[in-house]
Amino acid sequence: MAQTLINLALLYLFLFSLIVAPTKADSFSRNLSPKTLGLKREKLSHLHFYFHDTLSGENPTAVPVAQAAMTNKSSTSFGLVVMIDNPLTVKPEVNSEQVGRAQGIYASASQSEVSFFMAFNLFFTEGKYNGSTLSLLGRNSIFSGIREMPIVGGSGLFRFARGYAKAKTYMVNLKTNDAIVEYNVYVFHY
Ligand SMILES: *[C@@H]1O[C@H](CO)[C@@H](O)[C@H](O)[C@H]1NC(C)=O
Ligand SMILES: *[C@@H]1O[C@H](CO)[C@@H](O)[C@H](O)[C@H]1NC(C)=O
Repeated sequence: MAQTLINLALLYLFLFSLIVAPTKADSFSRNLSPKTLGLKREKLSHLHFYFHDTLSGENPTAVPVAQAAMTNKSSTSFGLVVMIDNPLTVKPEVNSEQVGRAQGIYASASQSEVSFFMAFNLFFTEGKYNGSTLSLLGRNSIFSGIREMPIVGGSGLFRFARGYAKAKTYMVNLKTNDAIVEYNVYVFHY
């Protein structure tokens, strides 16, 4: 008798799940084959360019937009936020061929050393990558030799991108804080 009741209960649960379950999970998500999106083999790409951070002159591309009351007293400019639309070029000279822009913000985020929180898009404007972007989010301790920052995603040809960028200061003017930074970026994408 008890066994029959258990069997009935199980049968009831089974029938109930048939009615309820599909409407719950299937209505907004499904599994896809990567082929559906035309994704073939994952590739590894290396990009090399120079980043021009120009705060001085008539046409700055890096503009301080906010700071805290204590920022001027901080030896690390803690709290300073800078908006950028910096050109990316193939050679260190700012007038060399431009391949894209770095658009976003960096902000002084350490009270013990000059270290920036970097959050910007690398927007490419040349060749097959024209219109594609890579998103960078990382920590940049600017007086260290080589800084590594994660690439957390991308768009266009860089969909599903992930990887890292290595930044090395090529030139810095300590009066104006203008800098040219060499970037080597390594990304997996399709
Ligand atoms: C910090 O210094 C700059 C220029 O040196 C000045 O324009 C700004 O008003 C100062 N900010 C504060 C919060 O004192
Ligand atoms: C990049 O794409 C934009 C928008 O589609 C277009 O106006 C521009 O001419 C393209 N540049 C190059 C170098 O192909």
